[in-house]
This record gives sequence, C-alpha cells and structure tokens, in this order.
Amino acid sequence: MKVLIASDHAGYELKEKVKEHFSEIYEFEDFGTSSTESVDYPDFAHPLAEKISQDASLFGILICGTGNGMSMCANKHPNVRAGLSWSTEIAALARQHNNANILVLPARFISSDLAFDIVKTFFNTAFEGGRHQRRIDKINR
Ligand code: RB5
Repeated sequence: MKVLIASDHAGYELKEKVKEHFSEIYEFEDFGTSSTESVDYPDFAHPLAEKISQDASLFGILICGTGNGMSMCANKHPNVRAGLSWSTEIAALARQHNNANILVLPARFISSDLAFDIVKTFFNTAFEGGRHQRRIDKINR
C-alpha cells in the first residue's frame, strides 16, 4: 500500500522514524521536508492534500509540531478528511466515523512509540459507513 507523507521541520524527525518503522509494510511517497531547517507547513501540506483530493484511493500522513497547521491546510481541499490524532482511540474513530484519508500527527506532543501505534491503528481500522457516510456527505460545501 502506498502512503503519502510530509512534515515541516518540527515533524521531520518523526517523519523519518515513521518511514523507517513501516518501511516493510508501506511504500512511502515523501513530499518533504528534508531536514530540520525551518520551513512553512503549508508548502508541504498543500501538494500532498491536492494529490489525495484527486484520488480517492490514496492515504497520507502529515506531521507538524501541533498537527493544527497541517490539519487546517489539508482540510481546505475537497474530499480530504484529515484527522488530528494524539491517541490510538482518536485515530480509530477518525477512520470509523470520519473515513479520514489523512492522519495528522502532533510531533511535539507524542512519543515515537505512540506515533507508531497511532499509525498502525489508523491504517488497520475500517470506515463504518451507515450514518457516518450521511454526515461525511455534508462536509463539502
Ligand atoms: C512550527 O514551529 C509550528 O508552528 C508548526 O510545526 C505547527 O505546529 C503549526 O501548526
């Protein structure tokens, strides 16, 4: 399975760890950044979200310090549902209830081990459909 991934400088180290940890399970397409040098998160969130917006089969991971900036950018794109997750429970619900297609991680507030558990949970949890599909259909305006 292919996973698009991007971060800003605050998320760079966690991005590299996630890529390494899941290297045998997922094929990552890395949208940057490529170092801890200070950058602007929209420059990395928008290209990734644009691609997911145009292809319903794709999933992504975005990482910044809080997760807020990446979430705000990604959720501007039609058909993108980016879920900021700081626990496995929230990640599971982002899939079950929101059919999230981007997982957003707050690198400055979670450990690497917790991030790995969150990623694993996100990609192993299915959308429940039903009443949740009706609600998702009301998101795009
Ligand atoms: C960078 O300092 C920080 O503002 C960014 O990573 C993110 O938390 C923004 O929402």
